[in-house]
Amino acid sequence: MNVLGIETSCDETSVAVVQDGRRVLSNTVASSLRFHKKYGGVIPEIASRMQLELIAQVAEHAIQEAGITLKKVDLVAVTSGPGLLGSLFVGISFAKALSLSLSRPLVGVNHVYSHIYANFLESRNLKLPFVALVVSGGHTSLFYVEDFHKILTLGQTQDDACGEAFDKVAKILGLGYPGGPLIERLAQRGDSKKVKFSCSGTDRKMDFSFSGIKTAVLYYVRDNTRHIYKECESQTLSCELKRDIAASFQKAVTDVLIKKSFLACRLKKTKTLIIGGGVAANSYLREKFNSAAKEAGITCYFPSKEFCLDNAAMVAGFGYQLFRKGKVDGLDLNVELN
Ligand code: KG4
Ligand code: ZN
Repeated sequence: MNVLGIETSCDETSVAVVQDGRRVLSNTVASSLRFHKKYGGVIPEIASRMQLELIAQVAEHAIQEAGITLKKVDLVAVTSGPGLLGSLFVGISFAKALSLSLSRPLVGVNHVYSHIYANFLESRNLKLPFVALVVSGGHTSLFYVEDFHKILTLGQTQDDACGEAFDKVAKILGLGYPGGPLIERLAQRGDSKKVKFSCSGTDRKMDFSFSGIKTAVLYYVRDNTRHIYKECESQTLSCELKRDIAASFQKAVTDVLIKKSFLACRLKKTKTLIIGGGVAANSYLREKFNSAAKEAGITCYFPSKEFCLDNAAMVAGFGYQLFRKGKVDGLDLNVELN
């Protein structure tokens, strides 16, 4: 079954064709990122306008790349939320038009869950049930996945999302947007033991909180910048300190993600942990999770980096699984913001 997936929940416009939920025939991603950079974050109005301009071309490209024609599409899957309202509307409207004109069924897909499904692309046959951690720019959640249509939330962030914290800390360090890859690069030559950062505790054991650590970085930078200027230190020291701050922050965040994910595995008595979302592209995090998992007797799975970030292949794949479970949406499919 050929599923055409559409993803427009944030700044990406992505269309993919995936066969039988696993075989990615194409995955075209266009991003409006460069238009947001100067604002230090995604501007919803710019994102949705670009998506409106791009969606038809991106779809055409994905169909061509897949080596099929529109007539060979059997199902249309689209992200119905959560995400930016105007952006989601562009994708949903386009999906409805396709579904209607091709007389093919339509399935709305939850964006966060589709990040988990990214692990099942590329023919990986992972066994249910498992614990899943989604770490993205908008979400940080732990789930227990019994089946693709039975997903239980175990915990979530009480304030900032993990990727959002990376973005904000990058801004404090004057690095640019999006912050995650920039922090990762800077941290490579930093000393993660130099500054003692830690994430705040939460009332519920499997929830997260990242706004405290972001503020701790802000205060640390403020206090030490003054010191640097007072002592007339060179720019080099400031760069070194930046690297150490980036490394220390990245370590503190990774530590808490590992601790809570493993706790969830213990409580749910599973040895399988699946991770997804933009932050899962972080090499340091992947390495630390894998080595800690080995010690704990847990097996950790990550999607390939291409499928960590927002993409339509995961939407098509997850849509296929939901359709097999009997989910079909009508033309009244609406945006689901939560
Ligand atoms: O999943 P995603 O593409 O979009 C959302 O659904 O939000 O995630 C984007 C987030 C951004 O906050 C970005 O800074 C973060 O993922 N990110 C990273 C890395 N690459 C992207 N964070 C840490 N390290 C990375 N290498
Ligand atoms: Zn995402």
